[in-house]
Amino acid sequence: MAAGEERELVDVASAIAASAAALLRELAEEDVTEFERLEGPAAALPSATPTAPTTPRSPRSPRSPVTRVAAMVPGTRGPISWNGDRPTLEEVRTELGDCQRCGLHEGRSKIVFGDGHANAGLMFIGEGPGEHEDRQGLPFVGRAGELLTQMIEKGIGLPRRDVYICNIVKCRPPRNRNPLPPEVSACRPFLDGQIRAVAPRVIVTLGKPAASLLLDREVAITRLRGSWQEYQGIPLMPTLHPAYLLRKYTPENRRAVWQDLQAAFERAGA
Ligand code: URA
Repeated sequence: MAAGEERELVDVASAIAASAAALLRELAEEDVTEFERLEGPAAALPSATPTAPTTPRSPRSPRSPVTRVAAMVPGTRGPISWNGDRPTLEEVRTELGDCQRCGLHEGRSKIVFGDGHANAGLMFIGEGPGEHEDRQGLPFVGRAGELLTQMIEKGIGLPRRDVYICNIVKCRPPRNRNPLPPEVSACRPFLDGQIRAVAPRVIVTLGKPAASLLLDREVAITRLRGSWQEYQGIPLMPTLHPAYLLRKYTPENRRAVWQDLQAAFERAGA
């Protein structure tokens, strides 16, 4: 084996080990003690179909003078760029294309870009698509998604279409494992593009991975939730992931998430 290949293999193995260690820490933090056994090989899935970009329903605020924004994307296609420091969601989606920048594209059915209002005051960020999301090309449409939709519609009284919802990674990780660092890095410019495009007044991160990514440190979500943070000048409210809430549907957890969403809603003046 060539030295370069060996180094690459070591890098991948270290990334997997780091991800496994992070997952174990997260599970311990969430008191998970049992796993459901998954049967059968991961399905071979057809190639991606891009989802239609969301159409803005209200006029955008005036754009600042056109500047060239570029970020290096690890992988195949070199620097990405769009015009302006506030791209549209369509521009970000177009740049993403039929993405093959990381290995997640191999198992996906559809890219799950995002869903909701292009100028939403509230933006929710989860971890990555699951099985239902991968099939439909929309974020948070499975069981956890139903709970999130209820939390938004019944809890804070906003139609789901009035907020914007997306994930750290846009393709489903196999067997819903945590996305690996290279996968997160490959998708990061597009998440940042979405944040710039929507320019929400408040970001709500769902669960530990999204909060840890945007705050650039590993957080203990059960301790951090409910406390205001900031991402690039935007107030950020970390809360529990709806999938965690489904597993631990206690009055305390429900109250905690309800309080977090109320605080986010009030601050966004949504
Ligand atoms: N969990 C997530 O983090 N995102 C989804 O879209 C669905 C489930």
